[in-house]
Amino acid sequence: MTIILRTIAELRAWRDQVPPDQKVALVPTMGALHAGHMSLMGLARDRAEVSIASIFVNPLQFGPSEDLSKYPRPVEADIALLEGAGIDAVFLPPVAELYPEDASTFVVEESVSLPLCGAVRPGHFRGVATVVLKLFNIVTPDIAVFGQKDAQQCVVIERMVRDLNLRIDIVRGPIVREPDGLALSSRNIYLDAADRRAAPAIFASLEAARLAFEAGERNAETLAGIGRAVLAAEPWLKLQYWEVRHPESLAAIETIGPAGALFAVAAHLGTTRLIDNYLARPAE
Ligand code: PAJ
Repeated sequence: MTIILRTIAELRAWRDQVPPDQKVALVPTMGALHAGHMSLMGLARDRAEVSIASIFVNPLQFGPSEDLSKYPRPVEADIALLEGAGIDAVFLPPVAELYPEDASTFVVEESVSLPLCGAVRPGHFRGVATVVLKLFNIVTPDIAVFGQKDAQQCVVIERMVRDLNLRIDIVRGPIVREPDGLALSSRNIYLDAADRRAAPAIFASLEAARLAFEAGERNAETLAGIGRAVLAAEPWLKLQYWEVRHPESLAAIETIGPAGALFAVAAHLGTTRLIDNYLARPAE
């Protein structure tokens, strides 16, 4: 049975009865769960005795013109999926439970959150870091699991954990994709038939750059150019960015060195914004 917890007090009472020798793994989500989320649930179950998911559509991380009000909220189906996966508890707080009306303390990361998605979604990572730190403080997990799908989000959270000395191990789960390569996302339901036909070009652009990288290409602009060219061939897709960055600092690089690189892409299909990435690691 997955226990449903709606208040911080209920959550803390549940947490207090976990024996101290048992590890707790948290998977933060905004719901509308799909196989990508569920792969993270599997990792949480593998890594810890006790597993908990949170479902909270966090208003603080949505911009004024973004999809907060229409974000899908199939709560019953989500709970059934968590039950089926053997997740021990789900935290489903109402907005007022996490944000007092006069809340005035926020977490602002000032480096890795600035480029890429941070540059086009001002305030987004402030919202993410704030809610994730709050969830960490409420749940006090030993482990927290995040998807590589949102690579910059992983980097921001890892930086916050390091800089604020949080005693939590961050686990990254691999990107789960459709058979044609499209990364699973709760936002894929917004795609109409024409959008959906064009969407795999995002993955194809990453694959083209990956192949060039594996063939020995190390120049960041050359690799980004290869990726951008693949996307340019799909006029239905509006490219937002296609960048080759240092995998930990997210700084621009000229040449890929021993740390490898993050290939990161964001594109619009109609009004739907999709992101994807590839983590290039030099051969050992
Ligand atoms: P959400 O978009 O619901 O994603 C929850 C987690 O699932 C994130 O760690 C995300 O990277 C991961 N995920 C999404 N699609 C995936 C895929 N195709 N393969 C693998 N993992 C995938 O990310 C958020 O929510 C929020 O920003 C949150 C961290 C919960 C803070 O509000």
